[in-house]
Amino acid sequence: MNIGIDKIGFYTPHLYVDMNQLAVARNVEPEKFTIGIGQEKMAIPPITQDSVTLAANAALDILDDRDKEQIDFVIFGTESGIDHSKSAGVYVHELLDLNPNARSIEVKQACYGATAAIQMAKGHIALNPESKVLVLGADIARYGLNTGGESTQGAGAVAMIISADPKVMILEEKSTYLTKDIMDFWRPVYSDRAFVDGKFSNEQYISFFQEVWKQYKEQTGRNLEDFEAICFHLPYTKMGLKALRTVLAETTEDVQERLTSNYKISTKYNRIVGNIYTGSLYLSFLSLLELKEDLQDGSRIGLFSYGSGAVGEFFTGILQNNYRDHLYVQQHNQLFEERKEVSVDEYEAIFGNTLPTDGSNIELDVTNDPAAICVSGITEHMRQYVNKRR
Ligand code: HMG
Repeated sequence: MNIGIDKIGFYTPHLYVDMNQLAVARNVEPEKFTIGIGQEKMAIPPITQDSVTLAANAALDILDDRDKEQIDFVIFGTESGIDHSKSAGVYVHELLDLNPNARSIEVKQACYGATAAIQMAKGHIALNPESKVLVLGADIARYGLNTGGESTQGAGAVAMIISADPKVMILEEKSTYLTKDIMDFWRPVYSDRAFVDGKFSNEQYISFFQEVWKQYKEQTGRNLEDFEAICFHLPYTKMGLKALRTVLAETTEDVQERLTSNYKISTKYNRIVGNIYTGSLYLSFLSLLELKEDLQDGSRIGLFSYGSGAVGEFFTGILQNNYRDHLYVQQHNQLFEERKEVSVDEYEAIFGNTLPTDGSNIELDVTNDPAAICVSGITEHMRQYVNKRR
């Protein structure tokens, strides 16, 4: 049975800061951020957006009534969960008016969560070919003002429908994966900011890629020539390139050029959004699909997923006939076009304006947030949400 990605949607908040401005404010040469790190704009989430609303907004416009009826499993990959017990999937299930006869859960393994969700969804569809699974990857990357990780923050979500006979991409059977208990990046339950050993995390990312790629080649006999493009988890857009470069010598100059040029296209959306953790790999995939207009049906795409702590996986897919007809290019263009730049001072104020953690109630004004689905407050320890389209 062919199982894979049937639809793919994306959402990022309406505010961003320009990395050149951030560099000036931090007394750093702008090229360090724009070339060395490879980021141009960084998405800034207002207080009215959290991982639940980002995910729900990403899914809102890709679901039709039939999808809502057929989805019987919601799997939400996130490391920005809002509750230790109740899953973010249950909130999204309600906000999107999905069929009540569904399972809804949250999964966690740093940026790897959405990939775990996809693999779980594949198994579910294999057993239940008529059903559809809604996979969500949504996060807010927060390291803190004036920290080493600050230039690699971001916010956003990707929503995918996984089904039999998918319209966008079939997921092939073989995938290779690896787990090692390391402390390259983590966020203790008492902290709203991540802790990171930056250099070590870069090294581990590359080493995980090399290991799963080596295993994939050994187990399938395939090599770089078999791929039209390889998409990477992108904590910042230079990261995947560093990993890709370590294996390029395995192939001809033509293939090197193809993979490098397609890599560049696959980073364009990430360059103007930043790290969205669980969704980052899929945002890169979306960037390739939506911006490379001559990408052929039938192309094989490689995907490298990495979640600190750490789990890595290499898996592959084949683009389906007329897959372009099933993308939401216009909608995503509009989302980017309608964003508003904020100054570094405004970004710092927004960063510091967080929901209360002392149990007090709060009511939020959602009129300044153009998103359809927003956090509207906290009442008696319960987060309140609004779907303005209802
Ligand atoms: P840093 O120490 O600020 O930067 O940290 P740097 O000194 O390493 O410089 C970065 C690059 O800019 C270097 O290039 C410099 O040469 C270059 P490289 O040698 O790396 O190719 N540079 C310049 N280039 C042009 N013109 C200039 C200039 N100046 C310097 N004038 C670091 C960078 C990424 C470590 C930091 O931002 C950080 O800690 N970020 C967070 C951690 C991270 O993103 N790690 C990535 C791998 S782990 C991962 O992907 C998982 C993750 O997504 C979490 C999860 O799984 O949930 C993070």
